Amino acid sequence: MDVYEAVMSRRAVRGFTDQPVPMEVLERVLSAAAWSPSGSNLQPWHVYVLTGRPLAELKKRAGERLAAGDPWDEREYEMYPPALKSPYHERRSAFGKERYGALGIAREDWEARQRAAAENWDCFGAPAALFCYIDRDMGPPQWADVGMYLQTVMLLLRAEGLHSCPQMAWSVYRKTVAEVLSPPDGLILFCGMSIGFEDPTVRHARTGRAPLDETVTFVEGSAPPPHMARPGRLPAAVPVGARCRPRRRPVEHHAEADPRHAAAVDPPVRGDGGRAQWIPGLYPRGPASAPTKVALLSRRDHLTS
Ligand SMILES: Cc1cc2nc3c(=O)[nH]c(=O)nc-3n(C[C@H](O)[C@H](O)[C@H](O)COP(=O)(O)O)c2cc1C
Repeated sequence: MDVYEAVMSRRAVRGFTDQPVPMEVLERVLSAAAWSPSGSNLQPWHVYVLTGRPLAELKKRAGERLAAGDPWDEREYEMYPPALKSPYHERRSAFGKERYGALGIAREDWEARQRAAAENWDCFGAPAALFCYIDRDMGPPQWADVGMYLQTVMLLLRAEGLHSCPQMAWSVYRKTVAEVLSPPDGLILFCGMSIGFEDPTVRHARTGRAPLDETVTFVEGSAPPPHMARPGRLPAAVPVGARCRPRRRPVEHHAEADPRHAAAVDPPVRGDGGRAQWIPGLYPRGPASAPTKVALLSRRDHLTS
């Protein structure tokens, strides 16, 4: 699987089979992801990986909490600005429509939406998950580093034939997560990530993207070929030499009604069905400083609380 295929075939998968994810695959992915960039090479991510009994215990505790109607933990960071301005508000609405529409849930059916969202705390059935923390005193650049790291993890998972779903939802159950993981003081839980093999029977939408000229301004250089102006296409070589005028224009449309937000097409997958062969020795086992920061809680491990 090449990088374009990994990027285009990654999506937030919200239905997994119970097929176990081998621990050596997770170790391989996280060893390679340790090579993600970060400002001054701080590597500000702290990752816990759960499978087997510890993950089952976490899901059980979260399920009990949900059933008891426990309120969410107070937030340690705001997931979104309180008043989302345009075009973000419209993009968020369009996402909700896509996500819940695919499940046949009407916009006004709040309870059904809540039920679907509650699947977050079962990791959508995934047999593996990771939880990513960051030190409380880190700033926006380090949070961005963590985002790059997580995307690297998700792309490497694709190369292993696996899928994932990043989940900020766990941040409002952070105390339950902490009961199981006992992270050191001074860390904030940014998000969880469900990991596993996709359950193809779960209905889903392919979430769309804003047109390229809404988010990218080519000031000078090559114009994108027409097939790149829409999301969902694998780009070919970009012709060089052409100059183009600035392409940014005021946002004036309503995203939900905008046909340019049409869902991206599923990308072509080569004959290996998306499961690339791992080439042993291709990636070193990770920079010397990184492995200590990844805790693997396997079936063999005891619960920490
Ligand atoms: C940092 C982050 C947190 C997310 N949190 C959740 C979550 O809690 N639950 C969920 O179902 N999806 C979550 N998502 C998935 C997004 O909804 C999804 O990435 C977005 O709608 C684009 O869709 P796609 O990833 O399928 O292309 C999260 C994504 C990111 C990057």
